[in-house]
Amino acid sequence: MAGPSEAPHPQPTSTPPGAAPRGRPGGVLQKMGKGAIVHVVAVGSGKGGVGKSATTALLASELRRRGLAVGLLDADVTGPSIPKLFGLSGPLLDRGEGIEPAVSADGMRVISSQFLVEDEQAPVIWRGPLVTRLITQFFGGVNWGKLDYLLIDMPPGTSDVPLTVFQTIPIDGMVFVFTPQELAGMIVKKAMNMARDLHVPLLGAVENMSYLQCPHCHERIPLFGPGSVERIAKEFGIPVLGTLPVDPALSDAADHGTLGDYRSTEVAALADAFLAAIAAQGTSSVTTL
Ligand SMILES: Nc1ncnc2c1ncn2[C@@H]1O[C@H](COP(=O)(O)OP(=O)(O)OP(=O)(O)O)[C@@H](O)[C@H]1O
Ligand SMILES: [Mg+2]
Repeated sequence: MAGPSEAPHPQPTSTPPGAAPRGRPGGVLQKMGKGAIVHVVAVGSGKGGVGKSATTALLASELRRRGLAVGLLDADVTGPSIPKLFGLSGPLLDRGEGIEPAVSADGMRVISSQFLVEDEQAPVIWRGPLVTRLITQFFGGVNWGKLDYLLIDMPPGTSDVPLTVFQTIPIDGMVFVFTPQELAGMIVKKAMNMARDLHVPLLGAVENMSYLQCPHCHERIPLFGPGSVERIAKEFGIPVLGTLPVDPALSDAADHGTLGDYRSTEVAALADAFLAAIAAQGTSSVTTL
């Protein structure tokens, strides 16, 4: 399942390619005729460990189950998680049309710095300029093929790498992952302000780890309190797209590289709301690479 793509390119099912690239201010696109992407969406938070990668992966898998062509760009260069969640490993090949992404069992195209290191536990220790070049390569130098959605798993923080992503990739919208703690809310607001300042459209919010459902009486236990997602989403004028419970089965699937098989009514509802938010944005043009 790992390594260079032998699978056929997934075909987009929405807007056909060929339209002019969006060229959002700040987006630096390298056009090399290797792909056509309808929607580029970042999933981030600013806060570490809130479930950005899990939420990105779950949303991507659910969109894929609905027959959409989906790519995943793991922008967390120093702490890549996406390959582990899908049981993927490198190396990647370049057959002359750009880097070939790895392909998950269900046909998602995945790119991550994890594929560039031989030892899974070896740290990626790169200075800013190299990271900037890598992010640019991960977008414009990859043979993405035709995608309905390219989801970007953002790293935590509001410094170098998120800034590079915002400035080099024409992002159509960003989804913000919260957990119910007040501290998380405060830090997510910083990331939301950063995105807004850099003209990245705010698409919606997700609250992860909202509650734990008792397996016996099915009572919902709010482990981390009531949370602030509703209030902050309202303040920024964006919808809450979904809430995900703390679920040991999700954690187990993530640990075993089978997150693509995890399904729930909450994830399905999140995908419904996400697609509605995209539709509410209006028609989009296609980014050609
Ligand atoms: N709703 C959930 N229920 C159970 N476990 C979860 C849930 N969401 C995330 N996890 C687990 O919590 C851990 C952190 O999640 P994840 O790696 O997605 O967070 P992150 O925000 O991407 O972290 P980082 O800031 O390091 O990138 C992982 O082990 C993941 O499997
Ligand atoms: Mg992560």
